[in-house]
Amino acid sequence: MEHILEGKELNKRFASEKGDTTALTDVSFYLDKGEVLGIVGESGSGKSTLLKVVSGMITPDSGDLFHDGKKYTGQKPRKTGEFLQVIFQDAKSSFDPRMPMERSIAEAGRGRADRALILEHIKKVGLDEELLSRKPSQLSGGQCQRMSIARAFYSGAGILLCDEITSALDVSSQAQVVKVMKNLKNDGKMSALFVSHDIALVSMICNRIMVMKDGRCVEQGEIGKIISDPQHEYTRKLIESARKQEIVNEVY
Ligand SMILES: Nc1ncnc2c1ncn2[C@@H]1O[C@H](COP(=O)(O)OP(=O)(O)OP(=O)(O)O)[C@@H](O)[C@H]1O
Ligand SMILES: [Mg+2]
Repeated sequence: MEHILEGKELNKRFASEKGDTTALTDVSFYLDKGEVLGIVGESGSGKSTLLKVVSGMITPDSGDLFHDGKKYTGQKPRKTGEFLQVIFQDAKSSFDPRMPMERSIAEAGRGRADRALILEHIKKVGLDEELLSRKPSQLSGGQCQRMSIARAFYSGAGILLCDEITSALDVSSQAQVVKVMKNLKNDGKMSALFVSHDIALVSMICNRIMVMKDGRCVEQGEIGKIISDPQHEYTRKLIESARKQEIVNEVY
């Protein structure tokens, strides 16, 4: 079977007056249907750049992207939005502040607004129908983040690209978003790239992870295997610091 998403040897450099920054060097990955691939690595390691390249927000200097085996390198978000949606850290600012949630979500769909379908997605992310009439400023950060997950699904895209979607949330909202992601994954309908600097959190949601450092993928594999037997020194350090927070210990 074809991978639902695949990137092959992606490279991206940013040129500036102070010199070039190599953000991605020969990064390859694949994502299968129903799978969540975690992407971890320290600040500046290229995680967001990778998601931007995959979504078409920026074009790679070289390398190729495939959806269901079909090459889509160079396609812009307007087009890639048919099969993937990016969810950012700051969910609130991704909604029009003047619009009630229901309208924002409806506008993400193709064709006529389907209220029954909107409600279905709202329930899936554990939110109350009553919140649909509110504006973004009248919701908590966690509620907004779950609204943005619902909106992504309502748009018809089967692939989510999540960039630090729990980082701006307090612990209890974080737990709710993690629960939603887990449920969606267990449904088998969602496929996602899940970027986070928090390997402990990633280990709760993902099947496989990819560890990035200085724009390169230094390690990639099944989550349990990487946590129990990391091959790269940098991965070992990430796990060690997560263990200190006694989170990974709870999971494994
Ligand atoms: N538009 C840009 N112009 C120039 N350099 C950029 C640009 N975007 C990113 N970079 C550089 O590319 C590198 C990778 O950045 P990126 O945002 O992908 O890192 P990240 O892993 O997402 O970090 P964080 O965890 O802090 O979000 C960094 O050195 C960054 O400064
Ligand atoms: Mg980033």
